Amino acid sequence: MDSNNPKIAVIGAGVIGMTVGAMLQQELRNTNITVIAEGFKEDTVSCVAAGIFRPGTSFKGPTKEVTKKWINESWYYWQDILKTPEAPLAGIMPVSSYIFSKENYFITRNHLIEDLVPIYRPVEKDELKLCGEGWKYGSYFSTIKIGCDRYLPWVEKSFIEKGGKIENGRIDSFASLRSKYDLVFNCTGLGAKVLCNDHDLVSVRGQIAKAKAPWLKMAFYGDYDTYIIPGIDGVATLGGVRQYDSYNKEVCKYDAAAILERCYDFIPSLRKAEIVAHRVGLRPHRMPVRVEPEVVDGVKVVHCYGHGGYGVMCAPGTARDAIKMGVDILRSNARSKI
Ligand code: BEZ
Repeated sequence: MDSNNPKIAVIGAGVIGMTVGAMLQQELRNTNITVIAEGFKEDTVSCVAAGIFRPGTSFKGPTKEVTKKWINESWYYWQDILKTPEAPLAGIMPVSSYIFSKENYFITRNHLIEDLVPIYRPVEKDELKLCGEGWKYGSYFSTIKIGCDRYLPWVEKSFIEKGGKIENGRIDSFASLRSKYDLVFNCTGLGAKVLCNDHDLVSVRGQIAKAKAPWLKMAFYGDYDTYIIPGIDGVATLGGVRQYDSYNKEVCKYDAAAILERCYDFIPSLRKAEIVAHRVGLRPHRMPVRVEPEVVDGVKVVHCYGHGGYGVMCAPGTARDAIKMGVDILRSNARSKI
């Protein structure tokens, strides 16, 4: 292998893999990078996610500082695209949001983004009456949404235009990559459960409905995983469920009925929206998210997986750390060959 022209594989083509691929190209110009995956674009879990920039308060990196750094760096990465005319093509849009609860004020707070987004405030009394009766607590915040239905094709196109390669295939072992690649980024999401024999990685099953509701301009969160997030193309994401250790990829009619009922109660105007799809995504949940190097079967690997339902929002921050680790490995490879 040529240490001046290393060969790099990124396995996984969801938001993590494609963002790692694209950011690697910026970091290491003229490097041979191949993204290998079984599923691309609409066939990824990233495309099921609503992609709103709002981490769960239990989202966790190896330390509190790293977690916050990932979130902050991701925010500024998306903001940089949002400032450009590319933003709508990349599926990135600003979105204002209400989060209401009948149970607890703390549910409506978010210590991970309150100092980051332009506005995060408690609601006024009259705002509690915006969506039916009975809400006791609420917050309003301004954030962004990254729609992977647009982002993934956009980033893939740019990756290919800059010389990146895409390969359709299933990777069952790191050893199968040993003879071809100097470095491998493992961005396989839930696939890492088997690939890395990682018992800390668990599916948290999600199911959503897509509703044509072009009049809906804000996002709404309620109790019991109920959320309604508008889309750039007038199609809103209605959710959801969070089923721990469930691996069922089929749409469940009972979940679908419960999601619609909860969302219709929350925002009654949705009853007139056409439901255009039901989708399932298995969130790759791990505490902490795994961003670390490892040599597996003689292959130099940097893992970047386990983001749960927050992979879309946090992809750039975690990708940046993974890339730093990868670049260090390549530099030490080059030094050992002098
Ligand atoms: C969600 O953000 O609710 C979600 C994420 C991944 C798969 C399904 C749902």
